[in-house]
Amino acid sequence: MTTPNYEYYGLMVRYWDLLRGDTSNWDDRFFFLNVIRKSGQPALDIGCAAGRLLIDYLAQGIDIDGVDISPEMISLCRLNAEKKGLKPNLYVQGMNELNLPRKYKTILVPSSSLQLLLEPGQPLQALKRFYDHLETGGIFATPFMTLWREGDPLEGDFVREATRPEDGATVRRTSWWRFNPKTNMEDTRDTYEVIRDGLVIETEVHEQAPATLSYTQAEAVALFEQAGFKNIQVYSEFTFEPVKPADTVFSVTGIKP
Ligand SMILES: C[S@@+](CC[C@H](N)C(=O)[O-])C[C@H]1O[C@@H](n2cnc3c(N)ncnc32)[C@H](O)[C@@H]1O
Repeated sequence: MTTPNYEYYGLMVRYWDLLRGDTSNWDDRFFFLNVIRKSGQPALDIGCAAGRLLIDYLAQGIDIDGVDISPEMISLCRLNAEKKGLKPNLYVQGMNELNLPRKYKTILVPSSSLQLLLEPGQPLQALKRFYDHLETGGIFATPFMTLWREGDPLEGDFVREATRPEDGATVRRTSWWRFNPKTNMEDTRDTYEVIRDGLVIETEVHEQAPATLSYTQAEAVALFEQAGFKNIQVYSEFTFEPVKPADTVFSVTGIKP
């Protein structure tokens, strides 16, 4: 198989929902819903992937569109939506080249997907595209992760497994990551395996080096400021509580004046 020029493909997409399991109680679900309620509709979910938030919000009657750079993720999202009788507007686009036919009152980049933009200048270019796609007074909201701080481990791994319902096969994702303090970026390797009767019947390795850029709270705020956002708020994780210096997960919102 030729590796496509987007990161989320193949077994990663096929087993995305299965390996994640029940996401209905994830904290960000309530956070972003409250942001939309405050800021208004239409809303846009960037990096919508399989539609975890998009489909949930659509089902609640919210007018929300989705964007993702992976055509495979967009197809899965469309399928997941169809199963619920929903037909969202979905677009295959890179967030730093966003070009959509309408403007929004709320734009979300959930899951820290902005940190997947690694080239210098790309994150600012993306935020300017979001700014241009917002109505005056609209809100842009996104969480960030500080991936590493002095004293933290520089490398780690974890395994996730789930049972494929149709035949009881085990789907396993073995993940490894390494942080480089010089570049402030993380490399990752994810190995996907489907195991039936003790035999590996499918396998796929996804290597990204680098994969993700770390942000401090100050860097995230500076990025919002450079793009022209005002009334920038930084919250602790997915609450509306003010951020604490020790928070390594924080959500930032900004208004287009
Ligand atoms: C961590 S997943 C997001 C999951 C999703 N937001 C959720 O909450 O379930 C990251 C998503 O961002 C998409 N993505 C990566 N780079 C992108 C880019 N430059 N523009 C738009 N989408 C991108 C990936 O294809 C993937 O579906």
